[in-house]
Amino acid sequence: MKIAVLTSGGDAPGMNPAIRAVVRAGLNSGHEVYGVMDGYSGLVEGNFEKMSRKSVSEILQKGGTILGTARMKDFHNKDVRQIAIDNMRKIGIECLVVIGGDGTYRGAQALTEMGFPVIGIPGTIDNDLAGTDFTIGFHTALDTIVEAIDKLRDTASSHQRCSIVETMGRNCGDLAIMAGLSCGAEFIITQEHKLNKNDLIEKLKVHKSEGRRNAIIVITENITNVHELADEITEKSGFACRATVLGYVQRGGSPSAEDRILAGRMGSFAIDLINNQTFGVAIGVMNSKMIYLPFEEVFQMKNESMEELYQLVSKLS
Ligand code: F6P
Repeated sequence: MKIAVLTSGGDAPGMNPAIRAVVRAGLNSGHEVYGVMDGYSGLVEGNFEKMSRKSVSEILQKGGTILGTARMKDFHNKDVRQIAIDNMRKIGIECLVVIGGDGTYRGAQALTEMGFPVIGIPGTIDNDLAGTDFTIGFHTALDTIVEAIDKLRDTASSHQRCSIVETMGRNCGDLAIMAGLSCGAEFIITQEHKLNKNDLIEKLKVHKSEGRRNAIIVITENITNVHELADEITEKSGFACRATVLGYVQRGGSPSAEDRILAGRMGSFAIDLINNQTFGVAIGVMNSKMIYLPFEEVFQMKNESMEELYQLVSKLS
C-alpha cells in the first residue's frame, strides 16, 4: 500500500521517533511511505515527500518534527478536506497515519467519516487524550518541568520566596500533578482541582509561620494570571512570591527514552493495524499494552484524572 504520515497540532518530543517507526515498519512490511509536510495543510497543498530508511535516520534523538506541523482551522471545512483526499488519491495514497492531539484526531475522524482510512497516534505533551494512559511527548515535557522546578526551588529557598510555576496542559492537569509530585510542590492547582485563593493564602501564612523557607505552587495554564496571583500572595501571605511561565520550552528537547520507546511501539503498531486493514481508530497504551479504539469512542470517553496522585501530594507533604 501507499501510506502517508503527518504530524499536526503542537509539536511533542517523540514525534520524530514515531515518524521513523511508521516509515521503517511500513517499508519493512513492503509498503511505500510518504511524509506530508506541515500537518493537514500539507495534504491540502499536496506537499508530499517519499520517505526512505535514510530519510528517517538519526532523528530518534531529535525534538520537534522533521515533517513540520501546523494548526489548520480551514480543515473544519468539508470542501477543504475533499481537496486533501483528492490529493492523496491522485498519487495513490490509500491510508493516512496522523500523529497529534485532540485537534488532529478531530480532523482524522472527519476524514474517516468521508470514507478515507486513517489511524491516529497520540502525540501531545498535554496527555489530554482519552483511550491511552500516556501520549508521546508527555514524559519528556514532564522531565523538562521537573528540572525547571528543581532550579526554581533553589532560588526560592535562598530568597525565602514562594514560587509559582505555570505548566502547559491546555485543560489537563497531568503535567502539573506529576511534576508537582516529583518536586514535592506544596500546592498544585489544576482545572480538576480549582484555585481557592483565600484557602491558598491562609495555608501559605501557616507555612510561613512554621518557619518554612519556600513554597512551590504548580499551576496548569489557562486558570489565572499567575503574575497577578504572585502579587496578591506577596501582599497577603507574608511570602514574597514570583511567577514563572515555563511556556514553549516544555515542547522542545530531545525525547526521553520512555517517549522514544512509546513512539516506536505506536508507530509499528500503526503498521500492524494497516496490515490487518483496521482503520478509523486511535492507538493507545493501556496497562503497558498496545490498544486501539474508534475515534468516536475516544471522543466520548472521559480522560481519567490522576486523582490518586493528587491525593498523594497532601499525604507526602
Ligand atoms: O497542545 C499542546 C500545547 O502546547 C498546549 O499545552 C498549549 O495550550 C498549546 O499547545 C499552545 O498552542 P500554540 O502552539 O498554538 O500556541
